[in-house]
Amino acid sequence: MAPEISWRGLTATLVVLLLIQPSISIYCDDDDCYDLLGVSQYANSSEIKKAYYKLSLKHHPDKNPDPESKKLFVKIANAYEILKDESTRAQYDYAIAHPEEVFYNTARYYQAYYGHKTDPRAVLVGLLLVLSAFQYMNQLTRYKQALDMVKRTPAYKNKLKALELERTGGATNRKKSNKQMNKKMEEDLSNELELQIKGAEKPSVWGLVGVRFILLPYAAGKMLLWCVRWLWRYKVKRAPYSWEDASYLTRRSLGVPHDSWNYIDESTKEDLIGRRLWEKSNLQSYMAEMRKESKRRR
Ligand SMILES: *[C@@H]1O[C@H](CO)[C@@H](O)[C@H](O)[C@H]1NC(C)=O
Repeated sequence: MAPEISWRGLTATLVVLLLIQPSISIYCDDDDCYDLLGVSQYANSSEIKKAYYKLSLKHHPDKNPDPESKKLFVKIANAYEILKDESTRAQYDYAIAHPEEVFYNTARYYQAYYGHKTDPRAVLVGLLLVLSAFQYMNQLTRYKQALDMVKRTPAYKNKLKALELERTGGATNRKKSNKQMNKKMEEDLSNELELQIKGAEKPSVWGLVGVRFILLPYAAGKMLLWCVRWLWRYKVKRAPYSWEDASYLTRRSLGVPHDSWNYIDESTKEDLIGRRLWEKSNLQSYMAEMRKESKRRR
């Protein structure tokens, strides 16, 4: 059961994630920072400082146990953080005067406030990125090593020779286009080989930790749906297995990986599926049959 990625599902997941994500709020949220401190937009720094000390004393949680007051205390402190610094105050004034530059203002806000502090979300994203990069490099190296090893085997060299002969057919202009030919052949062969090398899959973006993490809700949802559908169809309604599901059961009982199954020809697949190998007795008799066959061949 390998849920495959579909673009429709991916888009749906992203939409859900964006909805779950709390809406981005910058500076003093929906409040005006100056209003929170009760000062005018033209107040100088000492006025702002004075206003802040007065209000923070009034709403300090130690003096004022009212939960609303506590909320206000936090808001006031935040507003003061922004207005006490000339540069962040200027940024805030700019954001108020240019509400249309949403992205620029948001970026500047995060630059100022999370640039030096570490946002746990940023740490998580960074960690996932680093892990994914390592994973990708590792996969790429292993894949290349496996490919190199295969290319050094006599079987590969013979195949290359055979292919070369077949293509050129001892043609006259062999020298001229030899290099080009070789390159193309090499590519063809390695494409063919990619399908055959097990244990070293070509690196895929979908398998990376970071991508998996983002797709987790989607994959889990898809898996759940799959299980429910399976139970309903085959356990409750006792419907006969569809071709696709019978393929899956057959593949699983024989321990054939998904990719390899795709390269089995249709008539063999049909024969295998017809044997209903997911039933233990059928599998056992099939295995016994295969053993006998291989002995006979030897
Ligand atoms: C700020 O403004 C107040 C009142 O207008 C004034 O008394 C004070 O000197 C000013 N302070 C500075 C640093 O400009």
